[in-house]
Amino acid sequence: MSDITQGESAATSSAHREVANASLFFKRWLANPLQMGSIIPSSDTLCRKIAALVRRAEDEVVVELGAGTGVISRALLAAGVPPERLVVVEIVRDMADHLRAALPGVNVICGDAFELPKALPEAMHGKVGTAICGIPLVLLPRADQQRFVDAVEAVAPGKGFLLYTYCITSPLPYRALGLAAKREVWTPMNFPPASVWHYQPARS
Ligand SMILES: C[S@@+](CC[C@H](N)C(=O)[O-])C[C@H]1O[C@@H](n2cnc3c(N)ncnc32)[C@H](O)[C@@H]1O
Repeated sequence: MSDITQGESAATSSAHREVANASLFFKRWLANPLQMGSIIPSSDTLCRKIAALVRRAEDEVVVELGAGTGVISRALLAAGVPPERLVVVEIVRDMADHLRAALPGVNVICGDAFELPKALPEAMHGKVGTAICGIPLVLLPRADQQRFVDAVEAVAPGKGFLLYTYCITSPLPYRALGLAAKREVWTPMNFPPASVWHYQPARS
Protein backbone atom coordinates (compact mmCIF):
# COMPACT_ATOMS: atom_id res chain seq x y z
CA MET A 1 0.00 0.00 0.00
CA SER A 2 1.39 3.44 -0.91
CA ASP A 3 1.90 6.18 1.64
CA ILE A 4 -0.81 8.24 -0.05
CA THR A 5 -3.33 5.42 0.23
CA GLN A 6 -2.38 4.93 3.89
CA GLY A 7 -2.88 8.65 4.47
CA GLU A 8 -6.28 8.51 2.81
CA SER A 9 -7.41 5.53 4.86
CA ALA A 10 -6.25 7.20 8.10
CA ALA A 11 -8.24 10.28 7.14
CA THR A 12 -11.24 8.14 6.23
CA SER A 13 -11.15 6.29 9.55
CA SER A 14 -10.82 9.57 11.42
CA ALA A 15 -13.80 10.94 9.45
CA HIS A 16 -15.80 7.79 10.26
CA ARG A 17 -14.94 8.19 13.94
CA GLU A 18 -16.09 11.83 13.89
CA VAL A 19 -19.40 10.88 12.29
CA ALA A 20 -19.88 8.00 14.78
CA ASN A 21 -19.02 10.32 17.70
CA ALA A 22 -21.40 13.01 16.48
CA SER A 23 -24.21 10.53 15.98
CA LEU A 24 -23.73 8.89 19.42
CA PHE A 25 -23.55 12.34 21.00
CA PHE A 26 -26.72 13.52 19.25
CA LYS A 27 -28.58 10.34 20.26
CA ARG A 28 -27.66 10.96 23.91
CA TRP A 29 -28.58 14.63 23.59
CA LEU A 30 -32.06 13.63 22.37
CA ALA A 31 -32.36 11.25 25.34
CA ASN A 32 -31.21 13.76 27.99
CA PRO A 33 -30.27 17.28 26.84
CA LEU A 34 -29.57 18.57 30.37
CA GLN A 35 -27.09 15.77 31.09
CA MET A 36 -25.24 16.37 27.79
CA GLY A 37 -25.28 20.18 27.82
CA SER A 38 -24.29 20.39 24.15
CA ILE A 39 -25.56 19.07 20.85
CA ILE A 40 -22.17 18.14 19.33
CA PRO A 41 -18.77 17.02 20.69
CA SER A 42 -16.02 19.53 21.58
CA SER A 43 -13.82 20.74 18.70
CA ASP A 44 -10.22 19.60 18.14
CA THR A 45 -8.99 23.09 19.04
CA LEU A 46 -10.81 23.13 22.36
CA CYS A 47 -9.63 19.59 23.16
CA ARG A 48 -6.00 20.51 22.45
CA LYS A 49 -6.23 23.66 24.56
CA ILE A 50 -7.62 21.67 27.47
CA ALA A 51 -4.86 19.06 27.11
CA ALA A 52 -2.24 21.82 27.18
CA LEU A 53 -3.47 22.91 30.65
CA VAL A 54 -2.96 19.49 32.21
CA ARG A 55 -0.39 19.20 35.00
CA ARG A 56 0.60 15.82 36.37
CA ALA A 57 3.52 14.43 38.37
CA GLU A 58 4.80 11.04 37.22
CA ASP A 59 2.82 9.12 39.86
CA GLU A 60 -0.39 11.11 39.36
CA VAL A 61 -3.44 10.49 37.17
CA VAL A 62 -5.58 12.79 35.06
CA VAL A 63 -9.29 12.39 35.72
CA GLU A 64 -11.89 13.37 33.14
CA LEU A 65 -15.43 13.65 34.47
CA GLY A 66 -18.21 13.30 31.90
CA ALA A 67 -16.05 12.08 29.03
CA GLY A 68 -18.87 11.72 26.48
CA THR A 69 -17.52 10.37 23.20
CA GLY A 70 -13.88 10.66 24.36
CA VAL A 71 -12.71 13.49 22.13
CA ILE A 72 -10.92 15.19 25.02
CA SER A 73 -9.57 11.86 26.27
CA ARG A 74 -7.96 11.34 22.85
CA ALA A 75 -6.39 14.80 22.95
CA LEU A 76 -5.01 14.01 26.43
CA LEU A 77 -3.44 10.80 25.11
CA ALA A 78 -2.05 12.65 22.09
CA ALA A 79 -0.54 15.24 24.44
CA GLY A 80 1.37 12.49 26.24
CA VAL A 81 -0.81 11.33 29.14
CA PRO A 82 -0.11 7.56 29.35
CA PRO A 83 -3.36 5.54 28.97
CA GLU A 84 -2.87 3.87 32.35
CA ARG A 85 -2.64 7.34 33.95
CA LEU A 86 -5.91 8.51 32.42
CA VAL A 87 -9.19 7.87 34.25
CA VAL A 88 -12.47 8.74 32.57
CA VAL A 89 -15.77 8.75 34.45
CA GLU A 90 -19.00 8.59 32.46
CA ILE A 91 -22.45 8.05 33.91
CA VAL A 92 -24.20 6.71 30.77
CA ARG A 93 -23.59 3.00 30.29
CA ASP A 94 -23.52 2.93 26.46
CA MET A 95 -21.14 5.89 26.36
CA ALA A 96 -18.85 4.19 28.91
CA ASP A 97 -18.92 1.03 26.74
CA HIS A 98 -18.05 3.13 23.69
CA LEU A 99 -15.13 4.71 25.63
CA ARG A 100 -13.83 1.30 26.70
CA ALA A 101 -13.79 0.11 23.09
CA ALA A 102 -12.32 3.34 21.71
CA LEU A 103 -9.63 3.97 24.33
CA PRO A 104 -7.61 0.79 24.95
CA GLY A 105 -5.64 0.85 28.20
CA VAL A 106 -7.55 3.82 29.66
CA ASN A 107 -9.32 3.37 33.02
CA VAL A 108 -13.00 3.80 32.14
CA ILE A 109 -15.37 4.04 35.10
CA CYS A 110 -19.11 3.95 34.50
CA GLY A 111 -20.18 5.99 37.49
CA ASP A 112 -21.37 9.28 38.96
CA ALA A 113 -18.80 12.08 39.20
CA PHE A 114 -20.72 13.47 42.17
CA GLU A 115 -19.80 10.25 43.99
CA LEU A 116 -16.16 10.47 42.95
CA PRO A 117 -14.67 9.30 46.28
CA LYS A 118 -16.65 6.06 45.84
CA ALA A 119 -16.11 5.73 42.08
CA LEU A 120 -12.35 6.35 42.03
CA PRO A 121 -10.10 3.54 43.33
CA GLU A 122 -8.70 4.51 46.75
CA ALA A 123 -5.11 4.16 45.53
CA MET A 124 -5.77 7.19 43.29
CA HIS A 125 -7.10 9.42 46.09
CA GLY A 126 -4.60 12.27 46.59
CA LYS A 127 -2.90 11.25 43.33
CA VAL A 128 -4.94 13.36 40.92
CA GLY A 129 -2.77 15.84 39.01
CA THR A 130 -5.61 17.43 37.06
CA ALA A 131 -9.36 16.90 37.06
CA ILE A 132 -11.32 18.00 33.99
CA CYS A 133 -15.08 18.43 34.03
CA GLY A 134 -17.33 18.17 30.98
CA ILE A 135 -20.57 17.96 32.98
CA PRO A 136 -22.82 20.99 32.44
CA LEU A 137 -22.62 22.20 36.05
CA VAL A 138 -24.08 25.60 35.16
CA LEU A 139 -27.55 24.07 34.85
CA LEU A 140 -27.53 22.60 38.36
CA PRO A 141 -28.81 23.98 41.66
CA ARG A 142 -26.14 25.46 43.96
CA ALA A 143 -26.34 22.52 46.39
CA ASP A 144 -25.48 20.08 43.59
CA GLN A 145 -22.63 22.30 42.37
CA GLN A 146 -21.29 22.27 45.94
CA ARG A 147 -21.58 18.48 46.05
CA PHE A 148 -19.47 18.29 42.89
CA VAL A 149 -16.86 20.70 44.29
CA ASP A 150 -16.69 18.66 47.51
CA ALA A 151 -16.39 15.36 45.61
CA VAL A 152 -13.37 16.62 43.66
CA GLU A 153 -11.81 18.15 46.78
CA ALA A 154 -12.11 14.79 48.58
CA VAL A 155 -9.88 13.03 46.03
CA ALA A 156 -7.74 15.95 44.82
CA PRO A 157 -7.24 18.23 47.83
CA GLY A 158 -6.37 21.79 46.85
CA LYS A 159 -6.15 21.02 43.12
CA GLY A 160 -9.60 22.09 42.01
CA PHE A 161 -10.66 21.32 38.44
CA LEU A 162 -10.84 22.57 34.86
CA LEU A 163 -14.33 23.22 33.52
CA TYR A 164 -15.09 23.91 29.86
CA THR A 165 -18.18 25.89 29.09
CA TYR A 166 -20.05 27.93 26.52
CA CYS A 167 -21.02 30.56 29.12
CA ILE A 168 -19.78 34.10 28.55
CA THR A 169 -19.08 34.60 32.26
CA SER A 170 -18.12 32.08 34.96
CA PRO A 171 -20.57 29.16 34.85
CA LEU A 172 -20.17 28.72 38.62
CA PRO A 173 -20.90 31.23 41.43
CA TYR A 174 -17.38 30.48 42.56
CA ARG A 175 -17.15 32.73 45.64
CA ALA A 176 -20.34 31.22 47.06
CA LEU A 177 -18.82 27.78 46.46
CA GLY A 178 -15.59 28.70 48.30
CA LEU A 179 -13.56 28.76 45.09
CA ALA A 180 -11.15 31.05 43.30
CA ALA A 181 -11.52 31.20 39.52
CA LYS A 182 -9.36 31.92 36.50
CA ARG A 183 -10.41 31.79 32.85
CA GLU A 184 -7.48 30.00 31.19
CA VAL A 185 -8.80 29.79 27.62
CA TRP A 186 -11.35 31.37 25.36
CA THR A 187 -11.66 30.07 21.81
CA PRO A 188 -13.99 30.94 18.95
CA MET A 189 -12.78 27.71 17.27
CA ASN A 190 -15.59 25.67 18.81
CA PHE A 191 -19.32 25.64 18.24
CA PRO A 192 -20.41 27.49 20.27
CA PRO A 193 -17.28 29.48 21.30
CA ALA A 194 -15.95 28.04 24.55
CA SER A 195 -13.94 28.93 27.64
CA VAL A 196 -11.95 26.81 30.04
CA TRP A 197 -12.02 27.88 33.68
CA HIS A 198 -9.74 26.68 36.45
CA TYR A 199 -11.44 26.61 39.84
CA GLN A 200 -9.50 25.99 43.03
CA PRO A 201 -10.37 26.19 46.72
CA ALA A 202 -10.06 29.86 47.75
CA ARG A 203 -7.34 30.58 50.30
CA SER A 204 -8.88 31.98 53.47
C1 LIG B 1 -20.89 17.88 27.36
S1 LIG B 1 -20.87 16.12 27.41
C2 LIG B 1 -19.11 15.74 27.27
C3 LIG B 1 -18.60 16.10 26.01
C4 LIG B 1 -17.30 15.49 25.60
N1 LIG B 1 -16.26 16.41 25.86
C5 LIG B 1 -17.41 15.28 24.11
O1 LIG B 1 -17.20 16.27 23.40
O2 LIG B 1 -17.77 14.17 23.71
C6 LIG B 1 -21.16 15.77 29.11
C7 LIG B 1 -21.00 14.31 29.48
O3 LIG B 1 -21.10 14.21 30.90
C8 LIG B 1 -21.81 13.02 31.22
N2 LIG B 1 -22.34 13.18 32.58
C9 LIG B 1 -23.39 13.96 32.97
N3 LIG B 1 -23.56 13.87 34.30
C10 LIG B 1 -22.58 13.04 34.76
C11 LIG B 1 -22.24 12.56 36.06
N4 LIG B 1 -22.93 12.93 37.15
N5 LIG B 1 -21.16 11.73 36.19
C12 LIG B 1 -20.45 11.35 35.09
N6 LIG B 1 -20.76 11.76 33.84
C13 LIG B 1 -21.79 12.60 33.67
C14 LIG B 1 -22.87 12.94 30.12
O4 LIG B 1 -23.40 11.64 29.98
C15 LIG B 1 -22.07 13.40 28.90
O5 LIG B 1 -21.47 12.32 28.25
